[in-house]
Amino acid sequence: MINRRSFISRSAALGAAVTFGLPALADQPDNQDTALPVKKIRVGLIGCGSVSGMYLPHLSKSPYAEVVSCCDRIVKRAETAASRYRIPNHYASIEAMLEGVPFDLLVNLTDMQEHGHLNRKALMAGRHVWSEKPMASSYAEAWSLLELARQKGLRIWGAPAVVTSPQFAFMSKALREGKIGRPAAAHATYGHTGPLWSSFFYEKNGGSMPDLGVYNLVTLTGIIGPARSVVAMTSIVTPVRNIDEKGEIRVEAEDNAMILLDHGNGVLSHVQCGFNYFDPHGHEGKGQERPSVSIVGTGGSMHLVGYDWAPGGVDLATVEKPEFERFAKDTEGYVWEQGASYICECMATGKEPLITAEHALHIVEVMEAARESQETGRRVYLKSTFRWPVV
Ligand SMILES: NC(=O)c1ccc[n+]([C@@H]2O[C@H](COP(=O)([O-])OP(=O)(O)OC[C@H]3O[C@@H](n4cnc5c(N)ncnc54)[C@H](O)[C@@H]3O)[C@@H](O)[C@H]2O)c1
Repeated sequence: MINRRSFISRSAALGAAVTFGLPALADQPDNQDTALPVKKIRVGLIGCGSVSGMYLPHLSKSPYAEVVSCCDRIVKRAETAASRYRIPNHYASIEAMLEGVPFDLLVNLTDMQEHGHLNRKALMAGRHVWSEKPMASSYAEAWSLLELARQKGLRIWGAPAVVTSPQFAFMSKALREGKIGRPAAAHATYGHTGPLWSSFFYEKNGGSMPDLGVYNLVTLTGIIGPARSVVAMTSIVTPVRNIDEKGEIRVEAEDNAMILLDHGNGVLSHVQCGFNYFDPHGHEGKGQERPSVSIVGTGGSMHLVGYDWAPGGVDLATVEKPEFERFAKDTEGYVWEQGASYICECMATGKEPLITAEHALHIVEVMEAARESQETGRRVYLKSTFRWPVV
């Protein structure tokens, strides 16, 4: 069990890899001689829409989290979430929640375009942040959030939580142990026919990349390493959508994307995503057997069964054992909606999360580069990197 003091010294020792300030427990009593969690992390959750229906049951069961407040600008949604999940306080604006009952960690589940400015307000008010993806709409904005967090001794993390699955760990270790020889190429795909409950998915800075492709981008860069440059094509396949309670809207953001990444050392990968992909499993992960992530090298070939956010195992064949065999079939309790609960656990126990802000920032840069490549027809070089290997 790592206590607060050893976590702080360990964080300091990690140096450049963890260039943040102190963990969340700085204002909490020392608990160095007990195996009990130091304290539950007090959560203020903003955005009581669709995804909150997955986060809140998970957070409510976490021994490390206590959801003290929730907030939605549609007040009825905040009221309903508060009564359903026994959350003692609810608010109609971030300002009211930040001024209200104290909490440690903002969990931001709002529209993608709202994330940057809400995350900033929380950091300014001294709160740590778990943000749904993307952390911000532009690389410059996401970078400034990291800088702000560092200056204030706070932490910020962003979804998705795919790097915490046992299947991710299996693939990452197999690659590092040389099971597939020299890695050469990778491919990942994620799509469905698009959400219809909110228009922000189709508005500027929305699109299938920050909503869906982001999972594959985190998985591939997490396994084979940060990308150095990007070439992409994006398009709009369905220019008009019929959105619940809004009716017809004109689609402004891409709903079809093909992204090529150069990871250096000759390794190339490809991510495709879109809101026009018929999938018999719809938005559900259950039952999906098709591999969605494949990585091949000179000595082996491995394929993640199902989606990276809902994995069902890894099929691996090697020169030594050329028959495909399925590994890592057990999800060991991993679910995609565990990100905020996982961060609460890390904050409470001093465990350093596998999820890093730098990785999320890198993916924001990749997506921005993909948009630029589409606009200019050119290859775009990246500046950012992150601690790798992740596992
Ligand atoms: N729905 C899913 O299955 C799912 C899964 C994984 C991740 N996500 C991500 O979660 C985020 C939210 O998606 P969703 O599907 O829940 O959307 P949603 O439209 O169902 O919910 C968003 C909620 O945020 C509220 N909101 C927006 N701006 C606000 C503000 N400034 N202050 C207070 N409340 C505000 C809206 O009123 C709405 O209730 C997105 O980033 C999305 O990519 C969604």
